[in-house]
Amino acid sequence: MNVKKAYQLTNGVWIPSVGFGTWQIPAGPIATQATREALIAGYRHIDTAAIYQNEESVGLAIRESGLKREEVFVTSKLRADRKGYQITLDEFYGSLNRLGLDYLDLFLIHWPKPWGVEGDGKEYESQNIECWKAFIQLHKEGKIRAIGVSNFYPMHLEPLIEATGFVPHVNQIPIWPGYLQTETVTFAEKHSIQIEAYSPLATGRLFQVPEIHEIANRYHKTPAQIALRWSLQHGFLPLPKSVNKERIISNLELFDFEISPEDMVMINQFSVPPKKKS
Ligand SMILES: NC(=O)c1ccc[n+]([C@@H]2O[C@H](COP(=O)([O-])OP(=O)(O)OC[C@H]3O[C@@H](n4cnc5c(N)ncnc54)[C@H](OP(=O)(O)O)[C@@H]3O)[C@@H](O)[C@H]2O)c1
Repeated sequence: MNVKKAYQLTNGVWIPSVGFGTWQIPAGPIATQATREALIAGYRHIDTAAIYQNEESVGLAIRESGLKREEVFVTSKLRADRKGYQITLDEFYGSLNRLGLDYLDLFLIHWPKPWGVEGDGKEYESQNIECWKAFIQLHKEGKIRAIGVSNFYPMHLEPLIEATGFVPHVNQIPIWPGYLQTETVTFAEKHSIQIEAYSPLATGRLFQVPEIHEIANRYHKTPAQIALRWSLQHGFLPLPKSVNKERIISNLELFDFEISPEDMVMINQFSVPPKKKS
């Protein structure tokens, strides 16, 4: 099965099919160095967010890379606790300034509801619509090449689409072996929304599954490469994070092998241990 090196979004914009994740990479030299290593390794898609507090460091690596701006696809996200039209505009320009860029390739509403708030996010519906209207405006002005959401499920997506008629180009959701989010993926397929798979290694918990090591040995690949290739073969866009140079490099070496249909089914059924409650 051929997998794509880039996907075309519904507005014609191309997005590299693997992105470099930067959540939990500390701001400063560590984030700048990790992003620099990623760009040297060949990543052309960097995923950050205002809440990661590392936009300045990530932006510095992008600006100092020697690559032309149009060669790197840069995503950031509107903080989940910032809702409303004018707030969204202000937050967007805040991200842009911290990154030191004059446009974004992709901007996402990070969550339908602020972090730590109880409920399913329905009560933020009208505020999310206001955010979305601001996204559409910025997109029209050419400040953002593609716009989307993150952690949105059909019940959150439907009202946005109904109110504005504008379907998000991307939805970034948690997807890893054994966690397929079928309902949201089916909705995305119906509306031609590109799914980005965040935490594609289940933030490291994937490696506790014995079968991933068995499959990796058979293919002479790393467990991470198996999980990332599995994601690509599903048509998702995985966003692996690492601060380790060798792992950054190997996590992009995904295009010279293929997982068999039988092994795809086995990986679909993995049981990754849940996150430990802190
Ligand atoms: N939109 C959202 O709400 C949201 C939420 C979570 C994540 N995300 C995005 O998705 C990205 C990735 O998710 P994530 O940060 O949860 O983690 P992940 O990519 O699923 O896993 C990262 C963990 O795996 C380790 N790792 C990476 N490559 C490895 C390899 N080849 N072998 C062994 N260990 C390896 C990393 O350690 P080392 O760094 O030490 O290598 C780190 O501990 C984030 O950085 C962010 O951009 C978005």
